[in-house]
Amino acid sequence: MSKIRTGRQIFYNIFSYFYDFFIKIHSGHHRDETRTFLVDSARIDNTTQIRVLDICCGTGSVILSFTTKYVDALAIGYDFSVGMLHKAKEKDAANKIILVNGDAACLSFVDDCFDIVCCSHALYELKGQVRTDALLEMKRVVKPEGQVLIMEHEVPRNSIVKTMFYIRMLMMGPTDSHEFLKQGLSPFKKIFTDVSLSHTPSGKSKLIICRKKI
Ligand SMILES: C[S@@+](CC[C@H](N)C(=O)[O-])C[C@H]1O[C@@H](n2cnc3c(N)ncnc32)[C@H](O)[C@@H]1O
Repeated sequence: MSKIRTGRQIFYNIFSYFYDFFIKIHSGHHRDETRTFLVDSARIDNTTQIRVLDICCGTGSVILSFTTKYVDALAIGYDFSVGMLHKAKEKDAANKIILVNGDAACLSFVDDCFDIVCCSHALYELKGQVRTDALLEMKRVVKPEGQVLIMEHEVPRNSIVKTMFYIRMLMMGPTDSHEFLKQGLSPFKKIFTDVSLSHTPSGKSKLIICRKKI
């Protein structure tokens, strides 16, 4: 693993101590809206024993929401920060989720095995080739009829939140983030057969829904 990747892991390990507090301040009551919207957007025909993978799961809020709706789900949270995974474990008193430590660019799962693969508010923090590799890996591990759900913030209107958004985007690198924002859905369309876009009711977050087979 490169030094840069290790530096980022250290950053997220430290961030894990106040991540949930930060999200509370940053998103307020909208944080529940985004999770509910993401989980409700999942189209699952067979609702028993579904398999859900949350890439870059952080402190586990999204994957835990899936287990509330789909009680029999095999729910896996995946993140390269041990600190974030510890926080997720603390929140999972009922032992509903499995937590795996690893890099989004190299998933330790076989092909075509998940009904839903999601990635919430994290793709914009993956840099260049890591982001492309992560999308390719999501496509590889989702079932042919499954969905990849990617949630991201829209550019905020409030100037303080907007500054925080651009600081976050800079984690990709200034050129990369600017390019990626400009490209809209095209990076996803290059990888998936079917790509659609929807927005949370408040318009603060967007959901990119990708399928590898129509
Ligand atoms: C902004 S947080 C999002 C957490 C969570 N998905 C949420 O919605 O609250 C970004 C997460 O991505 C993880 N992450 C960043 N780069 C990663 C990589 N290359 N592989 C795996 N996880 C990564 C970080 O450790 C962090 O937990």
